Amino acid sequence: MPAGRDHDAERRESLERWEAAAAGWGRQLAAWGETSAPVATWMIDAAALAPGQRVLDLAAGPGEVGFLAAKLIEPGGELICSDQSEAMLELARARGAELGLTNVSYRVLGGEWIDLELASVDVVLCRWGYMLMVDPAAALRETRRVLVSGGRVSLAVWDAAEHNPWLEIPLEVLIEHGLLSPPESGGAGAFALGAVPLLHSMLEEAGFTQVTVEAIDIAREAPEFDSWWATHLDLSVSTRAAFEQADEAQTEAIEAELAARLAPYTAASGALAVPGRTLVAVAEA
Ligand SMILES: C[S@@+](CC[C@H](N)C(=O)[O-])C[C@H]1O[C@@H](n2cnc3c(N)ncnc32)[C@H](O)[C@@H]1O
Repeated sequence: MPAGRDHDAERRESLERWEAAAAGWGRQLAAWGETSAPVATWMIDAAALAPGQRVLDLAAGPGEVGFLAAKLIEPGGELICSDQSEAMLELARARGAELGLTNVSYRVLGGEWIDLELASVDVVLCRWGYMLMVDPAAALRETRRVLVSGGRVSLAVWDAAEHNPWLEIPLEVLIEHGLLSPPESGGAGAFALGAVPLLHSMLEEAGFTQVTVEAIDIAREAPEFDSWWATHLDLSVSTRAAFEQADEAQTEAIEAELAARLAPYTAASGALAVPGRTLVAVAEA
């Protein structure tokens, strides 16, 4: 990690932003579920779940990935659905109740200090969480500590920015308008773990074996620009925080610039399908 960072301030800011983001994530559950479903499927298959297992979903947000696991570990299994944010867990509780799940407990847990006993879970799931943590190497070591010997971590992190125009284009435009600072190299953020060799070596350095890393392409789709952008602002905390600083003139200019840069992904009908790519990994403790 680069020197001179105030890690505690970064953690506080992340928590505040995600607490505030929960309302938007609540609005976008269906859209996000559709975009992210192939990734959840890969992670669940790779986890090789069995009845009776104890599973931790770390940085679970609204909980979708873990909830798929909850069904597969019945009878006798338990899912711990966890996140740093109480507001996100509220969404997860509501969703878990809607799905009629009875083998789930909900806990506020930080990924860098997982408040669970040594070797107490069989599988850890973490979709799009580790790269947001201030010290992802510590989080991976913690993950291994709570896993039983031979237990599995199954995770997803975003690939590099150039493979994720759906996230990168809005960030670029906001940086150009002076509303966002360019990302610090080595800092936490969407693309912090976006390289296959890096993710592979971080898992091995944390003590994991049998490491497999693959890439999955996704697309953020919407019938037209306005709904694409509204959904994006609900889902991307850093984009929303920066865009909210724009005055009226900047708002119009930013939206026009964005629509122009998204033109290569916009059909004649106006519908958008903006590509992204995630890395997925599975490894054994
Ligand atoms: C991009 S969302 C992903 C949510 C969910 N896993 C999914 O795939 O839909 C990231 C989540 O990570 C959580 N998070 C970020 N840093 C964390 C940390 N250090 N410890 C625990 N959770 C964290 C946030 O609160 C947020 O709910």
